[in-house]
Amino acid sequence: MTAPLLVARDLRCSFTSGGRHVAALDGVSLTIAPGETLGLVGGSGCGKSTLARVLTRLIAPEGGSVTFMSDDWLALGGNRLRAARRHMQMVFQDPLAAFNPRATVGGVIADALRIHAVVPGAVRSKEVARLIDRVGLPSALLGRSIRDISGGQRQRVAIARAIAVRPRLIILDEAVSALDVSVRGRILDLLVGLQRETGVAYLFISHDLAVVRAVSQRIAVMAAGRIVEEGPAAGVIAAPSSSVLVDLIGAVPRLNGIPPS
Ligand SMILES: Nc1ncnc2c1ncn2[C@@H]1O[C@H](COP(=O)(O)OP(=O)(O)O)[C@@H](O)[C@H]1O
Ligand SMILES: [Mg+2]
Repeated sequence: MTAPLLVARDLRCSFTSGGRHVAALDGVSLTIAPGETLGLVGGSGCGKSTLARVLTRLIAPEGGSVTFMSDDWLALGGNRLRAARRHMQMVFQDPLAAFNPRATVGGVIADALRIHAVVPGAVRSKEVARLIDRVGLPSALLGRSIRDISGGQRQRVAIARAIAVRPRLIILDEAVSALDVSVRGRILDLLVGLQRETGVAYLFISHDLAVVRAVSQRIAVMAAGRIVEEGPAAGVIAAPSSSVLVDLIGAVPRLNGIPPS
């Protein structure tokens, strides 16, 4: 068996707001293998984004550990953290919030290549052109402001930026949730194709089971800060053991035997 890419154990993270204490992560453990997609599904407020933020070290957990590429990830600092960060990229629901709003499409991708010295400077613009083409965007967009393109195009730029640094893992948090159904389908196809080509692993987070089902080999179901069930996608959906998953299946006409309207 190949070594796991990422192992999270017993992660704990809580918030207090308005005098109320919320255990957003109440002992979360999961494993991601190289090149696989683990889908994480669960209702609003169950802790999915908190898990993504802890794994990407945007926030520190109160307890637990993360091993990433065999390193004690939460303890890494300095140059080793900078080098390892390249290998864990993130795509958010609203990429505008993650981009410098004054940036151009080409600038966003070129910056990622430069910061991580992915390719020599002399071939950087050629690599930008290759990436923009690979994510299905015309090169005419390269000079456009990131503010002046559509949501679907922006999400393709976010994917191009993530993939540019040749990471081992991309965490996608509701990455297609704001998109129209047809745009969403094409972006899911793009993600699957990129994974086949590059061997990148995905932690694919969504509240929408149909979307998670379309891309994931394994699925973990989250409720109230815990993973309540986990297993191969087809098996978990065919025989759900948690009421949360039964409800999520019920909300998806296609999985539930009723054709979509
Ligand atoms: N910065 C924060 N301050 C206070 N409460 C928070 C904060 N972030 C998340 N929470 C709370 O933690 C819980 C989990 O939130 P979140 O991880 O965003 O869930 P999900 O992404 O599954 O919708 C919710 O109850 C949410 O209100
Ligand atoms: Mg969320």
